[in-house]
Amino acid sequence: MQPLANITPLKPAGAIEVRNVGQIFKTTTQDVVALEDVSLDVKPGRFVVLVGPSGCGKSTLLMMIAGLRQQTSGTITISGAPIPEPDPNRVGVVFQEASLFPWLTAEENVEFPLALRGVTKNDRRARAQDALQLVGLDGFGKRHPHELSGGMKQRVSIARGLVQDPPVLLMDEPFAALDEQTRMTMGDELLRIWAATGKTVVFVTHSLTEAVYLADEVIVMSPRPGRIVDHLQVSLPRPRTYEMLSGDAFGSLRDRIWRHIRKSA
Ligand SMILES: Nc1ncnc2c1ncn2[C@@H]1O[C@H](COP(=O)(O)OP(=O)(O)O)[C@@H](O)[C@H]1O
Ligand SMILES: [Mg+2]
Repeated sequence: MQPLANITPLKPAGAIEVRNVGQIFKTTTQDVVALEDVSLDVKPGRFVVLVGPSGCGKSTLLMMIAGLRQQTSGTITISGAPIPEPDPNRVGVVFQEASLFPWLTAEENVEFPLALRGVTKNDRRARAQDALQLVGLDGFGKRHPHELSGGMKQRVSIARGLVQDPPVLLMDEPFAALDEQTRMTMGDELLRIWAATGKTVVFVTHSLTEAVYLADEVIVMSPRPGRIVDHLQVSLPRPRTYEMLSGDAFGSLRDRIWRHIRKSA
């Protein structure tokens, strides 16, 4: 028999653990403490939204969870293991600007991370088709970015984040550049994709309405150095509806977040 003591307990895929994490940027003139003692547990399949004033370290935190930057102190694990470098099989990332290559078609953009990892052409194409279908872009694969609307470009970028089917999707203000109406539609689309795939999502936004509308949980951060000052459970039923926006439950959650943000404005 194997001695049980040698078996490492496995964390479920998609769990995110952030423990006492700090980030200090060393510049030529001074040390900038961007984040201080941030701890956070995200259970698999949860939709968590991060809000906080500009410069409080939201993007920095996301970059660290993505393995794009290493923390100065503390530990981060994804599905139970540290993330010393980006790993698209564990974490997909979507940024504010769709950041697509203009000379590649939509499907080539989605395939790009797979091409980097040496996946064969046929396999790449099949997976890109699936991802494009998931985001509602069936039939648009041959278009170039300039032939797509802002919302469609952001869908391509979500498809690229999902193409390796990672259990975790990180989104940094993905809809900030879109007009209000497209933004609402994209929010509903994202909730549909999330419900269909069961991903863990960590989503950054400046919009308090968007935060409450999308989230299971909202994490509120203080001005720099960023710390977590509140953690709200949003127990509104799903699917979320437009009518909920004017309800009392919605309003009191949004007010509670606003009171934190206002203090720091
Ligand atoms: N590479 C860097 N070098 C120095 N300071 C940085 C760097 N990246 C971010 N910062 C600083 O760290 C703080 C947090 O930045 P960021 O994570 O982008 O905030 P947010 O996304 O919440 O607006 C800001 O004060 C920013 O100026
Ligand atoms: Mg940011």
